[in-house]
Amino acid sequence: MTFSFSFFLLPLVLILSPSSTPGSPWNCPSECICRQDGQVNCSGRELHSVPRTLDPSVQVLLLDHNRMDFLPPGAFTFLPRLLSLELQDNGLQRIHVHAFWGLGVLKSLDLSANALQALEPGTFQPLQALHTLSLAGNRLMRLEPTWLGPLPLLQNLNLQDNLLSSMGSGVLDRLPALHGLNLHGNPWVCDCTISSLWLWLRSHKHLVPGAEALLCVSPDRLTLRPMAAITEASFNYCTHPLTTWDLVVITMLGSLSFLASLAGCFIFGSLVTAFQARRKNRSVCYHQVKRSIPQTLGLDDPSKNTTTNFPTLSCSL
Ligand SMILES: *[C@@H]1O[C@H](CO)[C@@H](O)[C@H](O)[C@H]1NC(C)=O
Repeated sequence: MTFSFSFFLLPLVLILSPSSTPGSPWNCPSECICRQDGQVNCSGRELHSVPRTLDPSVQVLLLDHNRMDFLPPGAFTFLPRLLSLELQDNGLQRIHVHAFWGLGVLKSLDLSANALQALEPGTFQPLQALHTLSLAGNRLMRLEPTWLGPLPLLQNLNLQDNLLSSMGSGVLDRLPALHGLNLHGNPWVCDCTISSLWLWLRSHKHLVPGAEALLCVSPDRLTLRPMAAITEASFNYCTHPLTTWDLVVITMLGSLSFLASLAGCFIFGSLVTAFQARRKNRSVCYHQVKRSIPQTLGLDDPSKNTTTNFPTLSCSL
């Protein structure tokens, strides 16, 4: 009886199983559409995490328009052949520094239209084959050199529509293969902090389509002026960073002036004390003298000899 039951059940299980390749332990997740050419489409399925039963041979993974607000460590380690990963429009707020581990052949990563405000240094380090990266439409207010690079093969970087107000040249120096950079839609602040980006743009204008149209939002006198129209003279007043020698001189001058003011206070205090003591002494003497004069001169009694000795005073005038 048991035998005939499993005899009927087994084909049924095989038919109902969503496995794309019968006999393989990997299934096409029910939320996704798996194609023979290695593309898996899990787009717009309200997913909160990366489906775990994906075949390791997947090359293109569409996870856009889902609800993954955090990418945990090792989120894709089971997909060593992945070439393209789409994660746009997920409300993504945080990416663990080890989220992209194992994606050594990934060429294209789309993280656009998310809510990223910062990245952890080294997050993209495993992606040494990356050609195209989009961070457009996030909330990045700044970019540190260690947040992106080094990415030796990165050719296209999209930073459009973020909240970037400046960018150090260190960020772009770590992307030696770059030949397309989108910087539009950011609130550039054209003060001293923009000088390194301005200098970089002057020699790499051909890499930034529409570079002439990048606009400053502040300071007031430059609002809505193109960044390209700023003259080099505008940066003349920007002070150079302090050298070690400057710091040594400042520190020494600081300590010396402290010691000098301490000595000044001491001298002034001593003078004031000495002056006050002298004044007190004088007034004591004055009263002593005033009291002793009538006796000494015998004024009380005119018959007395007026040549009596003056009393010795215990003070000096
Ligand atoms: C992925 O699937 C969605 C929904 O089924 C569809 O609208 C979209 O066109 C597909 N994307 C691709 C690239 O096939």
